[in-house]
Amino acid sequence: MPNTNVMLQSITVQSPGRINIIGEHTDYNDGFVLPAAIDKKTVAHLHRNGQPTRCRITAGNLNETLDIDLDQVKPLAGGWQNYVLGVVHELQKLGAQILGFEGSFQGDVPIGGGMSSSASLECALAFGLNELFDLRLSKTQLIKAAQMAEHNFVGIKCGIMDQFASMMGQKDQVILLDCRSLEYRYFPLELGDYQLLLLHTNVSHSLASSEYNRRRSECEEGVAMIRKKHPEVQHLRDVSLPMLTGFQGNMPETLYTRCRHVVSENQRVLDATQALTTGDIQKLGRLLYQSHHSLQHDYAVSCPELDFLVDQTTGLDFVAGSRMMGGGFGGCTINIIEKKHGDQFVEKVAENYRARFGVDLTPYSVSIEDGAGVLSQAGAL
Ligand code: GLA
Repeated sequence: MPNTNVMLQSITVQSPGRINIIGEHTDYNDGFVLPAAIDKKTVAHLHRNGQPTRCRITAGNLNETLDIDLDQVKPLAGGWQNYVLGVVHELQKLGAQILGFEGSFQGDVPIGGGMSSSASLECALAFGLNELFDLRLSKTQLIKAAQMAEHNFVGIKCGIMDQFASMMGQKDQVILLDCRSLEYRYFPLELGDYQLLLLHTNVSHSLASSEYNRRRSECEEGVAMIRKKHPEVQHLRDVSLPMLTGFQGNMPETLYTRCRHVVSENQRVLDATQALTTGDIQKLGRLLYQSHHSLQHDYAVSCPELDFLVDQTTGLDFVAGSRMMGGGFGGCTINIIEKKHGDQFVEKVAENYRARFGVDLTPYSVSIEDGAGVLSQAGAL
């Protein structure tokens, strides 16, 4: 009989980064997204140290250490430490009895790559601490705690997509997530002769966090104006394109275009799942291009490097679609490209990119993997 009284002493867990097929800046508008967990992840090793409140954790990639007093968890000036402190604090807010622990983490999710290295770290810690201390929090609670760590300790008012994908991913499946109800459905990603290819610009513009929060407020301002005429509207999720069109010229142009991106992007996510179901890769690809156009012009979260990489694919019949991925202002494009043309395409684009920006891009051909999980654990009676 298995002994249920074994207390975990140490655990090694992993939690991945994510891609997003389509549905950008829709999550914090109660909308739809279509992400998946990938084969790049954070691995965290955690063990109890027998102390009531003292903790120490090392960021392996940076060789930097953070000491934590569990009685006084507060944000620091900046850096990876706030992801850790934020998660601990948010779990404590849920009543979690975390005791002293030590550990380390390291990962291969590119930082600033738009693959959500931050959610990968937050979820690895939340998941790991939940297991180590038998906190019995649900995955939804862990996801929300990780998201709130980012709001309250990092200062980015992010949506729930990244943490959800990192925690809930399944091999070879994309997740259609309704960010309002948190209902979700897996769809197999079957691309036939095509593959996903990420091209990392290797730039990350400093605007990213301030503009992110600004976009969120712009959406809220847009909703406030729409509500005056349509009081039933809670979020942009509740707005249809015909409803929004009635506001053209009656709200500031910037707010109008921000809203138009979100409203049209929600529809594109639903259309994309349809295209996946019928195996229509060309249609899926067209939706990616439309998404990029909307993010570039209506939502204004792209940058010259991302636009250049998308433009490089236009007119190539072996590329079905391309767009910027994630929050924007740098990071990656996601491309759906015929497998046999991948290498040659990367070579050519890398050369053009270097000539234009003096920067090397990094290609990643990612696979879709499971979300957070235990790699190994050890207990004592
Ligand atoms: C970042 C945020 C997500 C989401 C995307 C844009 O990755 O963390 O919540 O808003 O940007 O879609």
